[in-house]
Amino acid sequence: MSTPGGDDQLVVPRSVAVIMDGNGRWAKRAGFERIRGHERGVDAVRTTVTECARLGVEALTLYAFSEENWSRPKREIKLLFGLLERFLVAERPTLMDNDVRLLHSGRRERLPPRVLELLDETVELTAKNGGMRLALAISYGGRQELADAARRLAADVAAGELDPATVDESALAARLYLPELPDPDLLIRTAGELRVSNFLLWQISYAEIHVSDVCWPEFGKDELHAAFREFGRRTRRFGKVL
Ligand code: IPE
Ligand code: IPE
Ligand code: MG
Repeated sequence: MSTPGGDDQLVVPRSVAVIMDGNGRWAKRAGFERIRGHERGVDAVRTTVTECARLGVEALTLYAFSEENWSRPKREIKLLFGLLERFLVAERPTLMDNDVRLLHSGRRERLPPRVLELLDETVELTAKNGGMRLALAISYGGRQELADAARRLAADVAAGELDPATVDESALAARLYLPELPDPDLLIRTAGELRVSNFLLWQISYAEIHVSDVCWPEFGKDELHAAFREFGRRTRRFGKVL
C-alpha cells in the first residue's frame, strides 16, 4: 500500500508543466495586494526551477501569463511585466549556475519591447546550457498556438512546400511554438483548480495531472516531491491494455 506523500519513491518525470495559480488568493488571505502574491510567486519559481534541474527534469514549462490574462486590469499587467523584467535579469546567475536553458513559448506581438529585449538576451545568454530547458509560457494560449500552427501549415501549402495530403500529426506538431520540447509527462496545477485554462492543449494529451491545493507562492520542494511521488504511483496506459 502506498502512503500519500509518504515514503513512496520519487519518480522524476522527463518533462513537467506547471499552471502556477493562486498568487492573488494567497495575497488576499495574507491581507496584501494581489501583486505581492506575484512577487512571492517569483521565489516559488526559483525553488521549482532549481529543484527540477537538480533532480534531472529535462524540460519544465511554466505558465506565467496567458493570452486571456491580457483582460486583467492594466495596472496588474504593468506590475506583472515589471516583475518579469526583473526576473529576467536577476535570475541569470541562477540559470547559468544550474545549466538551465531558457526558452519562450507564446506570441510576441503584444509583449512590451523591454520585456522582449530582456527575454531575447536571456535566451541568447543561456543558449549553450545543456541541462534542463525552461520554457516560460508568456502571452501563451493553447488554442492560439494551434491556430498559429494551422496558419503556418497553410502558408507552407500555399508556397508549394507542403502537399496537403501529407499533413499529419507530426506536420502540425513541428509547427508548434517549441516543437523540440518533449510533451509533458506531468502537469501540475496549484490552488486546487480543476481546469486546464488553455494551457498546452496539444501537448498534454497523455500527461498525468496533479492538482495541489496550496497556492503557488507556497508551492515548495515538499509539494514538488509530493507531485513526483504521486506521479510514480500512476499507471500510464496510453490507450493500451497492459
Ligand atoms: C497566477 O495567479 C498568476 C497569473 C495568472 C499571472 P493568479 O493571479 O491567477 O491568482 P488567483 O488565481 O487570482 O488567486
Ligand atoms: C492560468 O491561470 C494562467 C496562468 C497561470 C498564467 P488563470 O488564473 O488565468 O486561470 P483561470 O482564469 O482561473 O482559468
Ligand atoms: Mg488564477
